[in-house]
Parts: sequence; C-alpha cells; structure tokens
Amino acid sequence: PARPRVLSGIQPTADSFHLGNYLGAVGHWVALQDTYDAFYCVVDLHAITAGHDPRMLAQRSRVAAAQLLAVGLDPERCTLFVQSQVPEHAQLAWVLGCITGFGEAGRMTQFKDKSQRQGNERASVGLFTYPILQAADILLYQADAVPVGEDQRQHLELSRDLAQRFNTLFGPTFTVPEAHIVKDTAKITDLQDPTAKMSKSSSSPAGIVLLLEDAARSAKKIRSAVTDTGQEIVFDAQQKPGVSNLLTIYSALSGRSIDDLVAAYAGKGYGDLKKDLGEVVREFVAPIQDRTRGYLADPAQLDRLLVTGAQKARAVAGPTLRAVYERVGF
Ligand code: ADP
Ligand code: NA
Repeated sequence: PARPRVLSGIQPTADSFHLGNYLGAVGHWVALQDTYDAFYCVVDLHAITAGHDPRMLAQRSRVAAAQLLAVGLDPERCTLFVQSQVPEHAQLAWVLGCITGFGEAGRMTQFKDKSQRQGNERASVGLFTYPILQAADILLYQADAVPVGEDQRQHLELSRDLAQRFNTLFGPTFTVPEAHIVKDTAKITDLQDPTAKMSKSSSSPAGIVLLLEDAARSAKKIRSAVTDTGQEIVFDAQQKPGVSNLLTIYSALSGRSIDDLVAAYAGKGYGDLKKDLGEVVREFVAPIQDRTRGYLADPAQLDRLLVTGAQKARAVAGPTLRAVYERVGF
C-alpha cells in the first residue's frame, strides 16, 4: 500500500532559520521522510505578503532549501520544491478563495496579529488570504497529514473546511487532511522574553538563535538569556520559563532527557548551564553550516535539484487542478 502523504511548508526567511523553526518544524520533517510520502515546500509566494526585496527573493529560497538539505532532507526520499515553480498553488487558491466566506477569512487570528504589527490599513489583501493559499498548498497534494504547531491549527481547520465544502459542492475531489501532532515538539521561547515564542518577528535579535549565525554569537546570546530568580536549575515552564527554555533546547539538541540534565546540573549555576549550552549549540550547528555552505557553493546544481523537485510536485498538483477545473465547470 502507498504510504500516506504529508505536506509541510516553510517560508524562506531573510537569512537563516532559527532554533524554533528547527525544533518545532523542520527537524521533524527529516524523520517523516521515511514513514510518509513527504512533500516539502519553500513557500515563497507567502514570503511576498508583507513586503520584500525582489533582489533577495530567489536567493532566500536557495538558502532555505540549502538548510533543509543540510538538516537531512533527501531529495531521493522526499519531494522538495519551491512553491512559485508550481503555478497550480496560485490557481487553486483562486478557486478556494471563491468558496471562502469573507467573514470566515476575517476570523483568522494570525492575520489579526500580523496586520496589527504592520498597521491595519497597510496590511495587504495577500496577507489576508494567505490561509487560503495555505489550504491550496495542502489540498493540491491530497495530503493525508500536515504537521502543525499550535500556531497553525486554525489554518489547518480552514483547509479541512474548504476541502469538505468543495467536495460537497462539486463532488469528491480532495482528501481532508488531518493534523499530525509531533510528540515532543518543543515550543522554543525568546531568550530575552521567555514568555513569548522565539520568532523572526521578535523585537530583539538577541532573543533568537539562528542556525547559520556564528556560533560564538549564539553562545553570547545564550549567556545573556533572561533567566529567573533563584539559582536552582529545575524544569518549571510556569515559574522558571527562562531556565526551562534553555533546558528544552539543550535536551532537544543533545538527546539527553530533561531529568538527566537537571540531575547533572544539581548544585551548579545558571552560568554553567549557559556556557555548556553554547557549546552544545556550536557542535550542533557546525555540520549544518558546513553542509549549507556546500549546497550554496553550487547554486546551479541546487537550482537543478529544485527544478526536479518542482517537476515531481507538478506531477501530483497538475491532475488535482485539472480535476478541480473540470468539476467547477471550466
Ligand atoms: P516565525 O514565528 O519565526 O515567523 P514561522 O511562523 O515562519 O516562524 O514558523 C515556521 C515553522 O516553525 C512553523 O511550523 C512554526 O510552528 C515553527 N516555529 C516557529 N517558531 C517556533 C518556536 N518558537 N517554537 C517551535 N516552533 C516554532
Ligand atoms: Na509566525
């Protein structure tokens, strides 16, 4: 029997993924390659919803793809591609937009958050309809499962609603995707504000650890991380969010359990933990940075690899879109 299909996407960010992206998302994609027929997409159409530099866009996608390969995605075992190279995404999004209620789209809380940050009047219609494009990303591939973090749950619900609605209106066409909740998905918080998630839109660069930054810089950020009153190293996300975040990162990157770490740091101070974590991060990112540089050193080869990925993607997306157009009556 065919393996179930999974789809996930990530925006090509300006310079590098951060540890939250890795531990909350793309790190898990690697394991899913073997149990699923996995489609992974660098969602560059989503990257133009809030203003961007056109001279940088293609390179951002390359850097994103290079990092995905560097952390272990294997184009022989998954389909890795760039969204804008598969025109069916935008085409299906239009059709889905026509069966989405205006009020329904307006209830997406991420739009409210993001548009508020930009000043509501300046937020683009593209940002508003972004969850519909996300639904198209998923439904085009008839994905059975979508790995989602808590922040994306509402968007997956919309994808499910739109799949069901289309199937009811026009006849069975789409697989209704399920959320794939990855166990032990760490939610990484901002080093400077341990109550907020680590995010590229964080106010302080000191709060974010980037996969591709100089490890000495990461170590410095970790040393300056906001910790909590008291000096005991224990895991307590409510009372000690700062120390708990450091333990979460440490555990995830080293493979040691939190309990093991807490035992090992009994009687030691925050400074010891931070110093060692800086070293753990350095060891973790070094090979990823090496491999990323390797892929980026041969952009023509990287581009060829992505063209092949897009061809594999279109072999699935094309028939879905043709079925959609036919049912809609085009
Ligand atoms: P950002 O919040 O930096 O804008 P995105 O929204 O582009 O990041 O997230 C890309 C992926 O990384 C999503 O699957 C999201 O759930 C995951 N992710 C982002 N930040 C974190 C975090 N701090 N902890 C865990 N997962 C995260
Ligand atoms: Na986000």
